[in-house]
Amino acid sequence: MKILSVVGTRPQFIKAAPVSRVLRERHEELLVHTGQHYDDLMSDVFFRELRIPTPDVNLDVGSGSHAEQTAEMMRRLEPVIADHRPDGVLLYGDTNSTLAAALVAAKLRYDDGTNPWIAHVEAGLRSYNRQWPEEHNRVVADHLADLLLAPTDVAMHNLGREGLAARAVKVGDVMVESFEAAAAHGDEALPEMARTLPGYVLLTMHRGDNVDDPRRLGAWLDALRMERPVVFPVHPRTAATLTDADVPLPQNVHVIEPVGYLAMVALEQHAALVVTDSGGVQREAYLAGVPCLTLRDETEWIETLDGGWNRLVSSSPDGLRRALADDVFTLPGAPRPPIFGDGRAAERIVVAIENFVP
Ligand code: UD1
Ligand code: UDP
Repeated sequence: MKILSVVGTRPQFIKAAPVSRVLRERHEELLVHTGQHYDDLMSDVFFRELRIPTPDVNLDVGSGSHAEQTAEMMRRLEPVIADHRPDGVLLYGDTNSTLAAALVAAKLRYDDGTNPWIAHVEAGLRSYNRQWPEEHNRVVADHLADLLLAPTDVAMHNLGREGLAARAVKVGDVMVESFEAAAAHGDEALPEMARTLPGYVLLTMHRGDNVDDPRRLGAWLDALRMERPVVFPVHPRTAATLTDADVPLPQNVHVIEPVGYLAMVALEQHAALVVTDSGGVQREAYLAGVPCLTLRDETEWIETLDGGWNRLVSSSPDGLRRALADDVFTLPGAPRPPIFGDGRAAERIVVAIENFVP
């Protein structure tokens, strides 16, 4: 079978790594990078560290408004799929790269009248907040896809509510594999500076609503003013606001460039607390057994809230200030059941595809 996989952003590289490995043992994979993320520290470092094969095609789309970026990806991807004529197209997550590829693949017809099937990894996630661009991307991708590869029971339930149960298979979360492989490296990848800051809080922020307005970003950072150090690997979107508007940084906040995956997992494992608006980092904090505060009103990963391992601080910096004054540094006593599966999602994804193909 010939499968064309589409990736474009940091979390998609991390999710695709284990799937690609299993896929290539039994099938032909053509890897397409849309170029949505392109800095070395947002893209190439993951291909090197996770030994992801070099993309067969890079669409080199780069940044832009949602419409510009999505349209340019569609324009450049259509001839690639038409030329290579894969049996199916494999998509990940909820980014503009996912949406563009879903739209192109769903409408494409080969000259013999056939068309590629679409499989969607991380199907069924919902925040039910239509203010977030990702919510539109994931809803559209799920409804266009033929095979929905859901990570959790909640995702399966969400798909059922939208009449999509017949196309859905629960496979677990593929990030568990990537996380466990990185965690096996121990602390050798822990950045030197973190070793000198025991008890640090690990911070990541990149959602437009949180970081594009310098006053709001400044208010979040101000809420983190405290005795403990904060280690803050900064996404380029956030870095742009910090530098362009000269946002004041509290002394305890240590800004560093984005880090590779091995360093990130080590940073998560050694943190006293994770503070984030990232989907991936919330799950990894749970896997690492480190308490997490999420800088949002809702989360797609609601299972992480059970037992208090993850807490929503609401979308206000005052909520963060209140949460930090609470006992967030004490480990919740509750157990951490394996809500994201057993670390064999990649194998299940490939089997689900094999079972699905007529
Ligand atoms: C995108 C995804 C988001 C995902 C995140 C993972 C969409 C709508 N959003 O958000 O769901 O959680 O990736 O990190 O698809 N930039 C650089 N260098 C890069 C990449 C980006 O400088 O390599 C800067 C550019 O100024 C760009 C901005 O970051 O305009 C935003 O990048 P973009 O890919 O549009 O969205 P993300 O915020 O990264
Ligand atoms: N990540 C990383 N280096 C960083 C920040 C994040 O390797 O400096 C990893 C993180 O461990 C997780 C993924 O990137 O696996 C999450 O990506 P991001 O937060 O950009 O996107 P989201 O998950 O919110 O879509």
